[in-house]
Amino acid sequence: MKTLVGRKIILVGGAGFIGHHLAIRLKKLGAQVTVLDSLMINNYYHYLQQKHVPNAEIYLKLTQKRLDLLKEHGIRLIEVDARDYRFIGFLLCEIPCDTLIHLAAVAHADKSNKDPYSTIDHSIRTLENTLDVARTNHNDINHFIFFSSSMVYGNFNSGIVTEDTPCDPIGIYGALKYCAEKIIKAYKEAFGLAYTIIRPSALYGERCVSRRVGQIFIEEALKKGEISITGDKTSSLDFTYIDDLVNGVMKVLENDNSRNQTFNMTYGEARTIKQMADIVKEFFPNIKINYQSKDKLTPDRGTLDVKKAREMLSYNPQYPLESGYRKYIEWYMKSWESLKS
Ligand SMILES: NC(=O)c1ccc[n+]([C@@H]2O[C@H](COP(=O)([O-])OP(=O)(O)OC[C@H]3O[C@@H](n4cnc5c(N)ncnc54)[C@H](O)[C@@H]3O)[C@@H](O)[C@H]2O)c1
Repeated sequence: MKTLVGRKIILVGGAGFIGHHLAIRLKKLGAQVTVLDSLMINNYYHYLQQKHVPNAEIYLKLTQKRLDLLKEHGIRLIEVDARDYRFIGFLLCEIPCDTLIHLAAVAHADKSNKDPYSTIDHSIRTLENTLDVARTNHNDINHFIFFSSSMVYGNFNSGIVTEDTPCDPIGIYGALKYCAEKIIKAYKEAFGLAYTIIRPSALYGERCVSRRVGQIFIEEALKKGEISITGDKTSSLDFTYIDDLVNGVMKVLENDNSRNQTFNMTYGEARTIKQMADIVKEFFPNIKINYQSKDKLTPDRGTLDVKKAREMLSYNPQYPLESGYRKYIEWYMKSWESLKS
């Protein structure tokens, strides 16, 4: 196992939900961490400008809190639009770096289907820029880590997928993630740039502002409203608590055998939306939940088999929905008063 002490790691899109959690953990473990982020997509400046977005004021405070935490931990944040090839090229050559983690994207399937142009720009243009700079010998980048998605699989026809299950994405988001995986592998073939592709699913946890189902449930419950959820109550997802993913990424960084591999990285056991709603009801017994039919671009999903990550990396997720989601609800309930004032 390789130590993280002294490792020089750049996270592009590192002020987002996953990125800021990763950056803080890496810094605590002794890595030299730099975050590059525009703060424009699903982040601070977006909520500063888009006051009409539901709960925008709360998301502004949550994204500000992420920035405060990065600062408190002594993590350098550089505001940069990763679509800018020249500037990103300059930075990646100036800042010492052996590992680049690419997270920048429009990280939401519904938004991607509504605005493909912007999604391609922020997801593929940014990726092409970082890959192209990483392949040159003007820096020491020798490991490129990419966040793909469970959406590359399309429908989970048997309810469970392994990394060998053929990919057949539906809609813009999944198609772009699959395309991105192909481009990364092509850079390995053409330039020898070692990669690791991580396929997470349905993350939840502290300071998420992406408005996925688990977050909406809690916010609506706290506001005592009715909750309308798209997708029938038997739809199942491999809900994953952020700490499990962060632990998994540490394993990727510590184990050289993660190179040139693709890993499912989830809890590894799907739960239904109804099971998630039942946990919310324990905390908010009076909440009323309505279900709306899901749209045709949302695939039927389920469990991502994590056996490969368990065997190769000793990945060992600790938080089934029953404990991780309770922890998240308790945090949100505790934070709510200060967030809404
Ligand atoms: N959260 C999940 O459940 C989940 C599941 C599967 C895959 N992923 C993938 O993981 C990655 C991170 O997801 P997240 O949940 O942290 O999303 P997020 O929206 O919280 O973070 C994405 C970050 O990228 C930044 N960004 C976007 N375009 C940029 C640009 N042009 N220049 C610089 N920065 C830019 C944003 O400002 C934001 O901080 C994404 O690629 C996403 O598709 C997330």
